[in-house]
Amino acid sequence: MMKKITIAIDGYSSTGKSTIAKQLAKALGYVYVDSGAMYRAITLYALENEFIGSEKDNIDALVKMLPYIKLKFELNNATGAAEIYLDGKNVEKEIRSLKISQHVSRIATITEVRQKLVDMQKKMGENKGVVMDGRDIGTVVFPDAELKLFMTASPETRAHRRYKELLDRGEKVVFKDVLENVQNRDYIDSHRENSPLVRAEDAIEFDNTDMGLQDQFERIKGMALRVIEKQ
Ligand code: DC
Repeated sequence: MMKKITIAIDGYSSTGKSTIAKQLAKALGYVYVDSGAMYRAITLYALENEFIGSEKDNIDALVKMLPYIKLKFELNNATGAAEIYLDGKNVEKEIRSLKISQHVSRIATITEVRQKLVDMQKKMGENKGVVMDGRDIGTVVFPDAELKLFMTASPETRAHRRYKELLDRGEKVVFKDVLENVQNRDYIDSHRENSPLVRAEDAIEFDNTDMGLQDQFERIKGMALRVIEKQ
């Protein structure tokens, strides 16, 4: 049996990381973990409990509740994709709204939030055979991953992709707001003190501004298979 590896896919928001990571995991028979969904679920929790989003933020209260927040992924048998549950409720759809996107980068700057989620992510990768996407996977979560990718694309291209996604889901959004959100998140994600978004030294940079999905998938799958063969 061929040895399983760990694959870390990092990069800016809306670079198509999750689409590629999902397809790759399926093709290899690996587990896919969307680490961003975990930050989004904590953000949803914080909004629902009015720790953020109302008059005054109460980050201390959120931090106190962290040990009691239950997050898990469960397979949706119909689609074959893992979906995230917050305190027993499937929140896979809710966490993709523009409102969550507008608050999540701030939640992701909180040290205690990152500690909790990084610990969980490390555990999910204990047995290898994992494709995880996020911002700090190759640098912090799996510094020893056998394959690390760093995805980039121009902000306009990414905002267009995201805009289309939100419209398809029936959200009423204007392009300008989506572009602004993409640019704001880039800034916060790469300037935060705590595990900022940076390319791991040994990560392969992959710019997909002018590349179709199928083409990207074939190339990345090729890279993964070459690494696996060498194990
Ligand atoms: O990949 P995404 O857009 O769903 O991620 C949502 C936010 O979560 C993003 O703005 C940054 C944060 N994030 C992070 O800080 N670290 C990760 N490993 C994944 C996401």
